[in-house]
Amino acid sequence: MEKFKREMTDFFDKLYPTEHKLLVFGEGDERARVMLIGEAPGEQETMQGRPFVGRAGKNLDEFLELSGLSREALYITNTVKFRPVKHSKSGGVVNRPPTREEVELFLSWLQQEIELVKPQWIVTLGNVALRALMGRGATVGACHGKEYDVGGRRLFALYHPASILYNPAIKAVYRNDVIRLGELVRADE
Ligand code: URA
Repeated sequence: MEKFKREMTDFFDKLYPTEHKLLVFGEGDERARVMLIGEAPGEQETMQGRPFVGRAGKNLDEFLELSGLSREALYITNTVKFRPVKHSKSGGVVNRPPTREEVELFLSWLQQEIELVKPQWIVTLGNVALRALMGRGATVGACHGKEYDVGGRRLFALYHPASILYNPAIKAVYRNDVIRLGELVRADE
């Protein structure tokens, strides 16, 4: 994993020689059975250099509780590893969704990361990770709570924890999906 991180850092330093993009790598058990894949780091994640430590990360604790999976059993990463930003009308810097080009740029790195961890289960959080791995026709609205085969691994799609913050109606669905995931993973031990 250290070599992978070094190679990725070199690659992006060469690609953006003047911007010095800060990469936020995955963390957790590098032999985990379950790999969670989010969208991209936000401000907090970039400041702390860890995925899912900001507001969306709070939901992760709830996720762990509901699923019955322990944090040690997980590896958590993002599809895009730097923070995509834009300037707001008031002149500040705000998050934006990653572009298709950014997702494509990171895809082979994500695939290498999956091959390093070799998880039995890949859990995508939201549309960005889902589409990166299942193709652009996939939508979390249609795929959430279901299991798919992706290159011999089991993929389970969840809504993004941040979408619950924006759309509380999704919360009950998300909770049921997470409970179901915990049952599936345990049944598979
Ligand atoms: N924080 C992350 O690390 N990833 C997301 O997708 C959202 C918040």
